[in-house]
Amino acid sequence: MLQDSIAGLDAEINAQELATAAQLDAFRIAYLGRKGRLADLFDQLKTVPAEQKRAVGQQLNALKQAAQARHDDAQQALAATAAQPADAGYDYTLPPVPHALGTRHPLSLVREEMLRIFGRIGFAVAEGPEIEDDWHNFTALNFPENHPARDMQDTFFIMGESVNERMSEGTNDPDASAQNHSFTHSPIHSLLRTHTSTVQVRVMETEPLPIRRVMPGRVYRNEAISARAHMMFHQVEGIFIDEGVSFADLKQTVYYFVNEMFGADTNIRFRPSFFPFTEPSAEIDITCLICKGKGCNICKYSGWVEIGGCGMVDPNVLENSGIDSEKYSGYAWGMGIERIAMLKYQIKDLRLFTENDMRFLRQFEAV
Ligand code: DAH
Repeated sequence: MLQDSIAGLDAEINAQELATAAQLDAFRIAYLGRKGRLADLFDQLKTVPAEQKRAVGQQLNALKQAAQARHDDAQQALAATAAQPADAGYDYTLPPVPHALGTRHPLSLVREEMLRIFGRIGFAVAEGPEIEDDWHNFTALNFPENHPARDMQDTFFIMGESVNERMSEGTNDPDASAQNHSFTHSPIHSLLRTHTSTVQVRVMETEPLPIRRVMPGRVYRNEAISARAHMMFHQVEGIFIDEGVSFADLKQTVYYFVNEMFGADTNIRFRPSFFPFTEPSAEIDITCLICKGKGCNICKYSGWVEIGGCGMVDPNVLENSGIDSEKYSGYAWGMGIERIAMLKYQIKDLRLFTENDMRFLRQFEAV
């Protein structure tokens, strides 16, 4: 009976495995081809009695369509797996690797805040190299050679050719030739700058007057590392040179900065001091914000902490940079970024800034 053959073939077709291209090919030839098993059954349709022909024909057609559909589905599935990349076996139910968003470093936050505050009263940013020569770090700033003031800022010296010698060799850099004169003043070694005052000299040597600049940067000293000192730290230097600038202008600039940075209830004190490059010179103290002036180990029980040095630029320094000291005067300051960050955020140990401890750094997420 043809109906039995149809049922048998249906079962047979459903039992075929269609996982590879070869299996698919064999299937097509064996069942769907012109000389295949289905064609065979269609041939036998003529032996079926007329009254059954219609029903059996429909059965046979349905089987053919089902076989064709199985073939086409398997072919599509095979093409899709072939197109997939090698990691198709990746388990998408695994938990994701967390996307860790970093935070700004507290020193960057404070540096930017400082530059914003000074920017509002017209100070634009300038930067200079961390590897310096003797001229910009010491001599131009009125530290005579062999003067004991140099000992207060011991650093890492690199013997050999100087920065300027290297910079002017084989380059067409106009800056390099502008700085050539400094080589003639300098012993032949480079050093890691001990302060950002070097950049004062660089802007005075190259920029037109009046000069109003803030100069952030990293500085180095030969220091034993402790809670209060590090061999590497950061400063923001400032300089203003024009006709008729006075110490009163300097004081107002410092008052304004402290007010903006720490709030109006912070006291400020100028303590007479000495720097070779300023005359007169002062150190800037503010109320210790860790103990609110009551006395603690950070302010050494004085209630005051120093945030930087300042003064009127020494006429020798102006003249060393080619500025007429009869006509122009100016003030300058240098402040430690670490110190200001410590006061602002009540940080009691300077080493935290460089230890990369996430528990510390994450606390600045919200700033
Ligand atoms: N360069 C000084 C230091 O690192 C700080 C300083 C003092 C900078 C007075 C100045 C200044 O510009 O006028 O200790």
